[in-house]
Amino acid sequence: MAAIQFRLLKQDGAARLGSLTTPHGLIETPIFMPVGTQATVKAMTPEELDAIGARIILANTYHLYIRPGHELIRRLGGLHRFMHWDRPILTDSGGFQVFSLNELRKITEEGVRFQSHLDGSYHTIRPEDAVAIQEALGSDIAMCFDECTPYPATHDYARRSMELTTRWARRCKDAHSRGDQALFGIVQGGMYRDLRERSAAELVEIGFDGYAVGGLSVGEEKEHMYGVMEWTAPLLPADQPRYVMGIGTPEDLVEAVWRGFDMFDCVMPTRNARNGMLFTSFGRLNIKGAAYAEDQGPVDPACGCYVCRNYSRAYLRHLYRSGEILASRLNTYHNLAYYLDLMAQIRAAIAEGKFDSFRREFHGRRETQ
Ligand code: GUN
Ligand code: ZN
Repeated sequence: MAAIQFRLLKQDGAARLGSLTTPHGLIETPIFMPVGTQATVKAMTPEELDAIGARIILANTYHLYIRPGHELIRRLGGLHRFMHWDRPILTDSGGFQVFSLNELRKITEEGVRFQSHLDGSYHTIRPEDAVAIQEALGSDIAMCFDECTPYPATHDYARRSMELTTRWARRCKDAHSRGDQALFGIVQGGMYRDLRERSAAELVEIGFDGYAVGGLSVGEEKEHMYGVMEWTAPLLPADQPRYVMGIGTPEDLVEAVWRGFDMFDCVMPTRNARNGMLFTSFGRLNIKGAAYAEDQGPVDPACGCYVCRNYSRAYLRHLYRSGEILASRLNTYHNLAYYLDLMAQIRAAIAEGKFDSFRREFHGRRETQ
C-alpha cells in the first residue's frame, strides 16, 4: 500500500479539490504548508499552528542535517516527536538550500559538495544521502534531490541541469525504502517549454507518489512563472498531488490553483511578518507606518484571527517599533492565519463550483484599494 492516498473530490475548470491521506492524518487540498526550516515554524507553537488550521508543515533536510543532525533526530524518535508536531510533515531535499546558501558548492554527477554555512566544514550530499536523511527524519513526504536551475539560464544549461535532476530522481527512487513515507519528483527545465515537458514526462515514467514543480520564483517575470505552471500541470497524473515549490504571494497561490496545483509552501508570510509586513484581504500593510500610530482598528477587519480580534494596529506598530518579541509572534500568527484562511476560501469556492468568480473578485478587491 502506498504511503499516501490522494482523492480528487471535485474539479472546477483546472482547479482541484482533493484529500490527501498521509501516515499522520488527512489533508484537504489545495493547501498551504507553513515553512519550519529548523524544525520550528518561527515564532509559532504547534498548538498555535493547529488553532489557525495548519495541517501540514515543511521542514528542511539541509538545515537539519547540518544541525542537530538527522541521526540525532532519529535517535530521539523522529522529527514529529522531536518538535511535538503530530500532523503531516513534508521535507524538502536540500537541493534548493544547498544552492541558495553555499557559494562554493560544486555539482558533479555524484552529488553536491559544499561547505557548511555554520562552521565551514566540507560535506557531500548525493541523492542517496538526501533520501537517507529524510528517512531518518521520518517525514510523511520526502522530496527528490534536484538542481534548482538558476535564472536566467541558457537552453543548453537548463537542459543539462534538468537531465541531471532526472538521473538523480531515478537514484532517489531506487534508494527510497520507507513504506510509510511518500516520495515526490521535482520537475525542472528553467523557463523552456520543451524542457519542462520532457522533465515531467520522464519523471512520470519513473513513477512517484506526487509531483512538484521547482525552479520558480527565482527572479523570472510572473508571466514566465504562470506559463511554466500552465505547461506542466496537464502533463502530471490527475490522480496524484501536484506541488509548486516556494511560492508565493496570495495572488500567486490563487493563480497556481487556477492552473491545477494542490500544494504550496513559502517563507513569505512568516519572514515578512518579522519585518512588519502584514497580508490582508485588501492588500499589504506595513505596520511601521506613521498612519497607524493611533489606529484602533484590527489589522484586517475581514480576519477573525486571535490577533485581529484582540489587538489594534496602533499596538502592533508600537510592539514592532520597540523590537518586542511579541511583534514577531503576533505578526506571524496573523499572516499565517490569513494564508490558511485564503486556502480555506479557495477550497470552499471550488466545492461550490464558483472558483472563477472567486478569483475575479479576489483580484478586483486588491486593485481597488
Ligand atoms: N524550493 C523552491 N524551489 C525549489 C526547487 O527548485 N527545488 C527544491 N528542492 N526546493 C525548492
Ligand atoms: Zn488576523
